[in-house]
Order: sequence, then structure tokens, then C-alpha cells
Amino acid sequence: MTDITVDEIKSRVDRHWDAIVELLSRKVALAAVSAKGITGDHMRKSAEFVAEELRGLGVDTKVVQSTNPDGTPGAYEVVGSRIVDENAPTILLYAHHDVQPVPDASVWKTEPFTATVEADRLYGRGAADDGGGIAIHAGSLLALGEDLGVNVKVFFEGEEEMGSPSFIPFITAHREAFESDVIIVADSGNWSDRIPSLTTSLRGNTTVDVTVRVLGHPVHSGQFGGPVLDANTVAAMLISSMYDDDGSLKVPGLKSQEPVGGLQRDIDEETLRRDAAILPSWRLTGSDSLASRLWTKPSVSVIGFDAHPVEGSFNVLADSATFRLSLRTAPSQRPEEAQQALAAFLKKSAPFGAVVEVKPLENGMGWAMDPDSEAVQDAQKAMQEAFGVEPINKGEGGSIPFIPELQKLFPQAQVLVTGPEDPQSNAHSPNESISLYGLRRNVVAEALLMNALAR
Ligand code: BES
Ligand code: MN
Repeated sequence: MTDITVDEIKSRVDRHWDAIVELLSRKVALAAVSAKGITGDHMRKSAEFVAEELRGLGVDTKVVQSTNPDGTPGAYEVVGSRIVDENAPTILLYAHHDVQPVPDASVWKTEPFTATVEADRLYGRGAADDGGGIAIHAGSLLALGEDLGVNVKVFFEGEEEMGSPSFIPFITAHREAFESDVIIVADSGNWSDRIPSLTTSLRGNTTVDVTVRVLGHPVHSGQFGGPVLDANTVAAMLISSMYDDDGSLKVPGLKSQEPVGGLQRDIDEETLRRDAAILPSWRLTGSDSLASRLWTKPSVSVIGFDAHPVEGSFNVLADSATFRLSLRTAPSQRPEEAQQALAAFLKKSAPFGAVVEVKPLENGMGWAMDPDSEAVQDAQKAMQEAFGVEPINKGEGGSIPFIPELQKLFPQAQVLVTGPEDPQSNAHSPNESISLYGLRRNVVAEALLMNALAR
């Protein structure tokens, strides 16, 4: 540990603050939407921008295009290192440079790809998820400057939002780029913009496409409606068969667990209602703590539904309907196992003998923190010093499936999941934003943590 004080780190972050915000703003402007093509030029430019910024911070980076499992070209990844002392610990800094799409810019209050500051929040697609992660890593390196006492490796991924399809071949081919003692994944977030958190767990994720068939072809709805239900109605029945009367999932074989490391604080309903913009009359579903329902119990959502659009619809019974389910799994359940349980339940529950096909799609494993690891103690102390309040650790309902893959390869590495988000960030939705108050302290916390790890 070098003898830089907490106040010195804070004043260095203040001094470099404009540069940190500028970096984040330029990153937002690159519109690195991986859903528009992982191998697109816009993704290469985003990777090159990040690589160049890090080079300016003394990290020897390069952009490497990964290879998909089927041999086709994959994502533009940024890898690199800054080695200060062979005997010092090595920290791997992770963030992703790809962002979610903007399906409808008209519902944004600001231009999605123009960083705009309002009331101490910076708005823009990817401002938090995960431009904020890039800003935290770059900012902490900037603050430590020549006083960096640990070796740093970086991996800034270009396809996280697409489920990291080429991640396993990439880590296998570039094993040494990931070898480290501590891995800081800055892709999650804090309890609030004022209260820092380590993320104690992430849920897994599995996706299936379900097709319901009832007729050989569409038929007149007046002539046949009554004894014959349309496929959309049957799909709705099938979807509702997954739930009890109180809205709890009742699919056998989906596991639940308690919040990891004990429940530090439950989520209060008023806050949840505000953060998720829940309509006043709309009641919450399920039972047990809200924290367990959000973090460690499974949930299913219909994320796509193919049916005739309302506009231009006519009086016909649909012969088939297809919908996509996204199942979030308990942190320690294998997603393959959960996927099979879900598929078996849907097939068995086919209403009135409808033909139900389930097409299995991607699986991503959840993750749970080791609450006793030494780096966890260091990180909590750094967060306390940076924010001036005790951290409240929390689980997350979202998924970062590469973490367990990385952990499998490097079982001795301690993984810390931090990040720029807070409940107002609207990641994946319109009007995404990052708290500048929170970002500044996240940068301080990471610099303090790296300094502590240098001992
Ligand atoms: N940053 C999120 C994960 C996250 C979400 C952390 C909410 C904390 C709170 C990440 O970029 C993400 O969205 N991951 C995907 C993974 C999926 C493609 C397998 C997700 O959770 O949908
Ligand atoms: Mn993310």
C-alpha cells in the first residue's frame, strides 16, 4: 500500500473530474449497440476508443477480434495490462463497451446518444450500463497515476449484452490476459446513489421460444369461434398456468434460495414502486422478502410475442402463436436444469391438447459472492471511505454469465462485483442515466481499493 491518503485520492478525482465525464460522454456518442451487429464497424470504433483512452493511462492495450464457437469472427474485445511490479498482486478490471439498443428515441427526454447532464445525472444510452464501468476503471487509474501499486489487466468486452457468445473460446485462447488475483467487475450497482454496495449474487438466465399450435391453418372466427379457441388465447392460458393465485411461480424444479451472505436490508415496497414506476393499483406478486423475490428466487417474463398486430387485424382464429420466455434462475441453480424443468412443465400443461413446442435457447449461470474473502473486506472499507456511509450489500436480479465461466478457469481469483448503476439508472430502458455523485465516489472507492490491494 502506498501512503496516499483518502483525502489525496478524493482531491485527485476532483481534479480529473472533467476528463472522466468527458470520456464517458464521448463513449456514449459512439452508440456501440451490439444488437446492431457485434462485428460492425461501430463496435470496432468503440473498442478502439476505449483501448486508446487506456493507453493514455499507461495500460498497454490492444483490440482483439474474438472467434465464435462456430469459427466465425466475433466481438471486438479490449485487452491489456500495466505491470508495475512482478511481486505485486494483479487486478483484472472488467467492463463491457457494448450497449443496449434504443428501439424508440421518441420516448427519451434527451438525445439517447448525446450525453446530457440534468440535476446531477448524466443521461444517455450506456451512460450507466456499462459506460459507467469504463469511467470507474479509467478514473481510478487516472487518480492513482504513478502511485499505482498493483499490476492491472483489463478486459473490456464487446458483446456482454448479447450473452457473451464468444467468451469461452476467447478466455481459452488468451488465458494469460485473465490471470489475476482479484477481478473487479464494474457492471452492477449500488443500493442508491448515496449508499454503496457490493453485489452479493446475480441470477442466471435461460431463454426459450414456445410455439402453441391449435389448427392446421387459420379459419373464420365467426364460423368456428366457440368450440375452437384461437392460438393466442391458448398461449395466454399456457403462460398463466405457470402462476399460483398470488402470482408465485409454481413450475416444479425451479429452485429458490435465500439472499447470499444474509439479508442486510430488505427492499422496501414504496421504493420499489417508485423505482419501477409501478402503477398505484398494480399489486406486487409472490411472497417472502422482496429481496429474495428480486435476487434469489426465479422469475419468468414474456419478452417477445408473435401475434397479428392490432392494426390490420381481421376476423380469423390464429392457428399458432409463438412467444419468448426469459427465465431468471436462483444464483446456484444450473440454468440447463431450470430450462428443462420449464420446458417439461409447459409441454405437460398444454391447454385442451394444444401442441406445444419449446425451443431451447441460451443459458447463463448465476453467481454468488464469497462473503468471507479478504478482497471483500478491503472493498467494503474503500466504499465506506469514499461514500462516507457504511455499504449495504445487495443481490441483483440481472445476470452476468461470464463471471462463473471465468471463476471456473481461475478458481483462486477473488471476484468483486461493483458498478455504476443505482435504482434510478433505467438500464436497458429509455432515459438511462448515471448519478454523477455516485460515479465520483465509485471512482474514489476503486482507487482506494487498488491502493489497499497493493499491500
Ligand atoms: N449490467 C447488466 C446486469 C445487471 C442488471 C446488473 C441489473 C445489475 C443490475 C448486464 O449488462 C446485463 O444486462 N446482462 C444481461 C445478460 C444476459 C444477456 C444473459 C441481462 O441480465 O439481461
Ligand atoms: Mn451491463
